Amino acid sequence: MNKTLLLLPGDGIGPEVIGEVHKVLDALALDIDVSEALFGGIGIDTEGVPVSDETLARAQAADAVLMGAVGGPQWASQSFDTRPEAGLLKLRAAMNVYANLRPARCFPALADASSLKRELVEGLDIMFVRELVGGVYFGQPRGIEDLPDGGRRGVNSHVYTTEDIRRVARTAFETARQRGGRVCSVEKSNVMEAGLLWREEVTRLHAEDYADIELSHMLADNCAMQLVKNPKQFDTILTDNLFGDLLSDEAAMLTGSLGLLPSAALGEAGKPGLYEPIHGSAPDIAGLGVANPSAAILSLAMAFRYSLDDEATAVRVERAVENAIDNGTRTADIGGTATTAQMGAAIVQSL
Ligand code: NAD
Ligand code: IPM
Ligand code: MN
Repeated sequence: MNKTLLLLPGDGIGPEVIGEVHKVLDALALDIDVSEALFGGIGIDTEGVPVSDETLARAQAADAVLMGAVGGPQWASQSFDTRPEAGLLKLRAAMNVYANLRPARCFPALADASSLKRELVEGLDIMFVRELVGGVYFGQPRGIEDLPDGGRRGVNSHVYTTEDIRRVARTAFETARQRGGRVCSVEKSNVMEAGLLWREEVTRLHAEDYADIELSHMLADNCAMQLVKNPKQFDTILTDNLFGDLLSDEAAMLTGSLGLLPSAALGEAGKPGLYEPIHGSAPDIAGLGVANPSAAILSLAMAFRYSLDDEATAVRVERAVENAIDNGTRTADIGGTATTAQMGAAIVQSL
């Protein structure tokens, strides 16, 4: 039976970058069943919800799901749980993709596109393992309530259990074993109970099963600073949902652009993975045809690696992106003038 890939183009530059993913898939001409579904703001406008039950079911039945981006100013004033972003959180939770792999690698040809000096980023290769279905994004209680004095009170809860921490930490240790063998676990155990639990559980799991891996701990504020001071000290960074979101955007600029960073969200073995560029819908450039499709195409490569059982194609797609950049094709975010379509075409040509 063919493998199945569900594409969720979404909003803003989402459909633009997924358009280039289609071209790569066409050029690869593999026996994969590719389909699409409405998702995000376009889903709200068309069927009243950011993600329908049918789309959730299709995602859970697919081998891999690849999303473009969701959100935009049109939907920003919508009530919280009907916003495009809520659809994405619902999808992540329904797929139970608790471990989000976000690699930040500096392409040699782009070392000067970084906002840091070349020598700080040349050869950079960090893997973030971000917890994705827990923490302050999902904890209860949450909400906004009216106060008797006429003011209001906004509440979010940062919650982690032993098992939430252990399962994502396991992914980080296993990932590090295939890489540099070092995990830096990042939290704020100095001010947060859930951060302290995080540190204790990671330490305990390490002692039980991963003594071959070098484990260190770092407070998140220091990590944000170390990432711009000396980013090459890191191999694998294990962190929670919110810190992982912030630190991976920061790391994107070490590689030159948010338009370059892919991600893979993985759950239990045998279940489908969710693949997403780490950037958003980029309302400031949406519709202009200038978005960098590399992050989306590199996310497709990760889907081949982790869900479609095709490492050779994963490597082929990654090399094609690197070759297109080496040959000088650059979108504006990495200092060039190529359109989305020209960048996509250069990648297809390099396959
Ligand atoms: P953003 O990631 O959309 O954009 C930040 C900046 O990076 C912008 O200047 C944008 O032009 C640039 N950029 C992003 N992707 C690019 C690409 N591929 N090529 C070139 N430049 C690129 O973040 P934002 O502006 O804070 O958020 C916009 C909307 O996207 C919000 O509604 C937010 O909730 C949503 N969002 C969605 C996702 C997602 O779908 N996974 C991720 C982040 C933000
Ligand atoms: C990301 C995004 C999402 C997140 C939003 C859109 C829900 O910023 O994937 O990085 O915060 O996880
Ligand atoms: Mn983000």
